[in-house]
Amino acid sequence: MGIYESIILANKAFIDETWEKIDKKLQVVAPKNRDKLPSMSINGVYNDHSEDMPDAWTNGFWPGIMWLMYAGTKNDMYKDIAIRGEELLETAAANFDCLYHDVGFMWHISSGAHYRITGDLKAKSRAMYMAASLASRYNMNTKSIRAFQEEARSTWVIIDSLMNLPLLYWASRETNDPRFSLFAQSHVDTVLENHVRKDGSVNHILSYDLHTGEFLGVLPGQGSGALDSSWTRGQAWAVYGLTLSYIHTQKEEYLNAAKNVAHYFIAAVSDNDYVPQYDFRQPYDCKDVDTSAGAITACGLIELAKVVPECEKALYLNAAIKMVKALVERYCDWTENDDAILQGVAASSKVMNVSNVFGEYYLIEAIYKLKGFEPMFW
Ligand code: GLY
Repeated sequence: MGIYESIILANKAFIDETWEKIDKKLQVVAPKNRDKLPSMSINGVYNDHSEDMPDAWTNGFWPGIMWLMYAGTKNDMYKDIAIRGEELLETAAANFDCLYHDVGFMWHISSGAHYRITGDLKAKSRAMYMAASLASRYNMNTKSIRAFQEEARSTWVIIDSLMNLPLLYWASRETNDPRFSLFAQSHVDTVLENHVRKDGSVNHILSYDLHTGEFLGVLPGQGSGALDSSWTRGQAWAVYGLTLSYIHTQKEEYLNAAKNVAHYFIAAVSDNDYVPQYDFRQPYDCKDVDTSAGAITACGLIELAKVVPECEKALYLNAAIKMVKALVERYCDWTENDDAILQGVAASSKVMNVSNVFGEYYLIEAIYKLKGFEPMFW
């Protein structure tokens, strides 16, 4: 037995028990929220963005959770609700102005998962249209994917986009056409040039001239304010996103970059009992945390542990399990008083200590991975 398998075995009781608790709670929560696209629970009840905000970047996570649960349990109830969520996303799909770089978050784990799990061709077509839309955002001057539509944010290249790239890698494999993947790789190369700092921390937002490609500088992002801040969810997108780019391309430089940002994250989070602060560079006495950053990073570290040599695996897998345990033991609500499980998410710098469906999604994905379930969702 290899080191990966023996660490999983040593934590088997925790992993199995947590998966069972998730399934038990979602068997109650899922049918109650069948006709919604929730982002967070308010007074214990999930809100719904299917009508008031059909283009919210978080709208794919509810169907994504349902597909994770279906893939892990084969309970048709989860599949039916996942498909209902995908139907609700059609309002955004039908409106071009609703489409931006987050089509990856929105459709890769809804329609994309639907196709990969069941072979449904209508779902494949929807995911493929979204891949084409994401590819169309590539700018050959800036060598990157444009994040947003509107003029005020037109020059932004943001770290979050890394997590949307798996939609492009998938589209290339599906069509046997390298173009989607080439756009993604070019974007990653640009991220490595200016987003990733030498110490493994990352910038959130950079600005580029759309017509000359000139790098215009760093902009304040979602971190604690200063230009050298270290917004932990941005760090998390980098850990998981770069790891996925390595998995889909086998490019050594992406693996080294993923390890670099992972080492930075593991060192910083170990100083806060494995629960990420909101920003690794916030004032030391500030208690703000973002549990979603822990869940996202745990997913990235689990995948990193799978691809590194035997002698490196324990570092990443043990850190992932410590982070997941810290969330499960200190930040999860297993009662029926709240639709959400994971608490302590920082939705933004102004909205702290809430639940959010993306934090929920990645926590469940982390346990799904530790259980050894397939397929990989990104
Ligand atoms: N992608 C937006 C966020 O992480 O808040």
